[in-house]
Amino acid sequence: MKLAVQNQKGGVGKTTLAIHISHALALKGARVLLVDADPQGSARDWAAAREDKPPFSVVGLDRPTLHRDLPPIAKDYDHVVIDGPPRVSDLARSAIIAADLVVVPIQPSPYDVWAANEIIKLIQEASVFKENLKSVFVINRRIVNTAIGRDVGDALAEYSIPVLKTVISQRVGFAESAATGRTVLDIDPKGAAAKEVLALTKEILSLGV
Ligand SMILES: Nc1ncnc2c1ncn2[C@@H]1O[C@H](COP(=O)(O)OP(=O)(O)OP(=O)(O)O)[C@@H](O)[C@H]1O
Ligand SMILES: [Mg+2]
Repeated sequence: MKLAVQNQKGGVGKTTLAIHISHALALKGARVLLVDADPQGSARDWAAAREDKPPFSVVGLDRPTLHRDLPPIAKDYDHVVIDGPPRVSDLARSAIIAADLVVVPIQPSPYDVWAANEIIKLIQEASVFKENLKSVFVINRRIVNTAIGRDVGDALAEYSIPVLKTVISQRVGFAESAATGRTVLDIDPKGAAAKEVLALTKEILSLGV
């Protein structure tokens, strides 16, 4: 499976989710490649902060030729996860075209919902070349013990792409683990955050991409 975690909005959790999905897939025994398509290099910084070898490979491909450059590299892996760049750009288009599934993290706020227009447009443009391109929203940073506001749920339902059932909550473990190049699956593998990440990965795999 080739999936791109993409949203032009900054700070929605693209890198966090890309790293965590990669780790969860690797724990299943799969050979996983995380492609850092963000010139900021956050995923590469994450890997560099880690003491031991990450449980999956991390490479930087942050040029708009990504969709051309990836296939020969990807052939040695079971899954490729692309950590997409912020902003609408040729690089973002290339990351989407390189993928079979686009996972769009979105925070449960009306601002994020409105801003999703842009990524929907990019996905629709890419679908012209790639008929089988699938895409899903995943809600990230839900405040624990709160419901997703009905207005947010209703607004997302207006868009043409489905919302995954699994929701990722706001938890300090996501930020804390990143500081040392780890994930919540390293620091608390049975904790609530890890459970959400494993459920998310399972739901993504069940899409059968
Ligand atoms: N579920 C979460 N709980 C707590 N903190 C989170 C969660 N998701 C992301 N964060 C934190 O929010 C910040 C932004 O997340 P992240 O870097 O993954 O977003 P991004 O979409 O990749 O940003 P950019 O657009 O700059 O690449 C980081 O400090 C990260 O640790
Ligand atoms: Mg990022």
